[in-house]
Amino acid sequence: MNSQPTIPPGIVSAEDYETAALERLPADIAAWLAGGSAGEWTLRANRRAFGRVGLRNALCRVPRTVDTRVELLGETMQHPLLLAPVASHGLIHPLAELATAQGAQAADTPLVLSCQANTALEQVAPHLSHGWLQLYWQQTPERTLRLIRRAEEAGYCALVLTLDAPVQSPGRQAQRLRFELPSHLGLPNLEPALRREAVPGQSALERLLKDAATLDSLAFILHNTHLPVLVKGVLEVADAVELLGYGVDGLIVSNHGGRALDGVSATLDALPLIRQAVGAQATLLMDGGIRSGYDVFKALALGADAVLIGRLQLYALAVAGPLGVAHMLKMLQEELQLCMALSGCADIAAIDPSRLRVGQI
Ligand SMILES: Cc1cc2nc3c(=O)[nH]c(=O)nc-3n(C[C@H](O)[C@H](O)[C@H](O)COP(=O)(O)O)c2cc1C
Repeated sequence: MNSQPTIPPGIVSAEDYETAALERLPADIAAWLAGGSAGEWTLRANRRAFGRVGLRNALCRVPRTVDTRVELLGETMQHPLLLAPVASHGLIHPLAELATAQGAQAADTPLVLSCQANTALEQVAPHLSHGWLQLYWQQTPERTLRLIRRAEEAGYCALVLTLDAPVQSPGRQAQRLRFELPSHLGLPNLEPALRREAVPGQSALERLLKDAATLDSLAFILHNTHLPVLVKGVLEVADAVELLGYGVDGLIVSNHGGRALDGVSATLDALPLIRQAVGAQATLLMDGGIRSGYDVFKALALGADAVLIGRLQLYALAVAGPLGVAHMLKMLQEELQLCMALSGCADIAAIDPSRLRVGQI
């Protein structure tokens, strides 16, 4: 771990931060961060999907300028990147989410703060020009509403309701290394969990499942906030259509970075089917396996309006603190611009499936 603002030599791509961080981090924290659930089939599938999509180059059609701006929920963003909600930045940097927020701000990148952050959402908000809050259903409507009101009052611009991980599924390697969240890292955005009475014959899993979100929970949230609500964890066309019918403002195609149900599709595979079903107007974001500007380009071409960056943010934070986060984001933006130029796309709207070649590279 390193809080010094220097970028080690040899970091020339966003992905280099992964290698450098995994060398530096204690083994149990590295396993927590890098790992996926169960056999890690979905974790691997996320990355492999990018290798099945090729690009087409542009001859004599190279644009003279390249504009990466996008409109998202009525706001103009300088580029189609956001930082995904990732829990417990305190494991990686002494300033925890404040450090990540500084990096995001320097790179003009919205941050989606996890409700499992180690820093109070009110403390992070002033460091963000554009922050969203991610939440899980908090056992009861009252508890969930208290968290929503805090986000509204602190100035967050949108809520992201994560629905694909009602129970957490720890990675096997992290378990082998006995990874545990140290007790000094608090979860100041969450109220202590309500203890559910043990019913004879009921397993611990069954107790947890009683608190999982339902469509009624979603309806409650939609009716009780003026903020746009996006649902994260969507992979199936039927779910995407149903959720939009309920009135959600956007969908995030995600499998929690391969950390929820192992065996679900790679997000890049699910994305074009969902875009086709929901139409061009729906707000559709995607995450999972993005490690380069080329990956961003492919996700946009297959229907994403913007993408979220998960593990890379903590890899960069581990190696070079806030500067690393900003540098990693800058490299992604510059590589996206290069890829757009070489494939003949002057702006984000020009990135469409015609720029892709399906088949192994
Ligand atoms: C260590 C870790 C913690 C995460 N914590 C959360 C979280 O608190 N809430 C959430 O919605 N997603 C969480 N995610 C999932 C990310 O938001 C995102 O979907 C995923 O990391 C994207 O894949 P990538 O890491 O390959 O970019 C977490 C992911 C990781 C790796």
